[in-house]
Amino acid sequence: MKVLVIGSGGREHALVWKLKQSSRVEKVWCAPGNGGIEAEAECLPADSADVPGLAALAERLSPDLTIVGPELPLVNGIGDAFRTRGWPIVAPSRQAAQLEGSKIFAKEFLRQQGIPTAQMYRVCDTAQDAIAALSRVDWPVVIKADGLCGGKGVFVAQDAAAAEDFIRRVLDKNELGAGGKRLLLEETLEGEELSFILVTDGQRYAPLVPTRDHKRVFDGNRGPNTGGMGAYSTDELLSPKLRQQILDSIVEPTMRGLGSEGILYQGFLYVGLMLTASGPKVLEFNCRLGDPETQAIVARMDFDLAHVLAELAAGILEPSRLKWKPGASVCVVIASEGYPGKFETGKRIDGLTAAERVNGVKVFHAGTRRQGDSILTGSGRVLGVTAPGASLETALGKAYEAAGKIHFEGMHYRRDIGAHAGRVQAVGD
Ligand SMILES: Nc1ncnc2c1ncn2[C@@H]1O[C@H](COP(=O)(O)OP(=O)(O)O)[C@@H](O)[C@H]1O
Ligand SMILES: [Mg+2]
Repeated sequence: MKVLVIGSGGREHALVWKLKQSSRVEKVWCAPGNGGIEAEAECLPADSADVPGLAALAERLSPDLTIVGPELPLVNGIGDAFRTRGWPIVAPSRQAAQLEGSKIFAKEFLRQQGIPTAQMYRVCDTAQDAIAALSRVDWPVVIKADGLCGGKGVFVAQDAAAAEDFIRRVLDKNELGAGGKRLLLEETLEGEELSFILVTDGQRYAPLVPTRDHKRVFDGNRGPNTGGMGAYSTDELLSPKLRQQILDSIVEPTMRGLGSEGILYQGFLYVGLMLTASGPKVLEFNCRLGDPETQAIVARMDFDLAHVLAELAAGILEPSRLKWKPGASVCVVIASEGYPGKFETGKRIDGLTAAERVNGVKVFHAGTRRQGDSILTGSGRVLGVTAPGASLETALGKAYEAAGKIHFEGMHYRRDIGAHAGRVQAVGD
């Protein structure tokens, strides 16, 4: 099997690494890839937003299977573009990807299917309308840009002044660009957040092992939000009771709703949940795997990912094929100085070989480039030091031992990934 992976981050490196372990896989391309992926797959220049460009690339390569990492090509319709040409791809349809691409579409879907979610106050496309609507909300209020905004589209407003400021910046000054043409005002939910990721052929589904990510930049969940500073996985993260509650009240009705609306969903579905006093409620859907959750997930896979995904692209998921290693896994993200604010790139990274000599450790590259024999930093999140272990403590020990061997100027990482681990409790559990 020849496989094409689309994307350039740590998630895609993790997918490439896992796919290459399959005896069925003879070749992996990654478009565009990065300096670390290059060592394991043939990287080809590509713009992952450009579906016609990616189709032209696939026409030339003729892969037996294409796997898409990021949301942009999915929302731009790569699934439909490849399927109409008869090319096997793991990707929800363009319509299905609207579950992530439009928060208003997702909210309407949730309401129609009676799936628990934050109450919607109003959809607005002018600042005047949105500001007027503020007189009828409870505080704080959550204001969400409808489209893709790279994690910058959601604001929890404590009072009217803060809400007005955000509304004007988005709708009048167009600060979020195309993703911010419409706003959704919704109720603020309280509780603990949990992500629930599954893979589905549109009818059958299989939940992946539970993971938790760490969004804030500093230890103790302080500082600004990032794309994700680390993740860990243990089975204990999710009690059997809560897992069943999520399946019954969220996942099953979501699958039924996709079916009854005729929305073709073949791929990964990431459900962002708030565990409230009255049960789990959907915060958002993502139509893809998370980053860095994927790095922790692949570290626990005990099955042939290429085989499962090839079957999925043919329309059939066989849930019993997904087998998982017991124990735990950890991914510690190493970031550039200043990230998630301004940062410099082009710093030389040392110690990668020594880090991977730590038993079981794999260093996934999130944003690097190769220059001669050196690997240089290329983005805010640079590396994801990933380790499995019989226990969370063992996995953490290995990941941090390996992270300690890596060096580049200004690098930083959180020291408390998985430190507050413990079962996520639904209230009343
Ligand atoms: N209704 C809500 N109540 C409370 N917090 C929310 C709500 N919606 C979103 N959030 C917070 O904002 C974060 C980002 O919102 P989300 O809907 O996941 O959008 P995105 O990931 O696209 O930025 C969530 O992880 C959560 O912390
Ligand atoms: Mg989110």
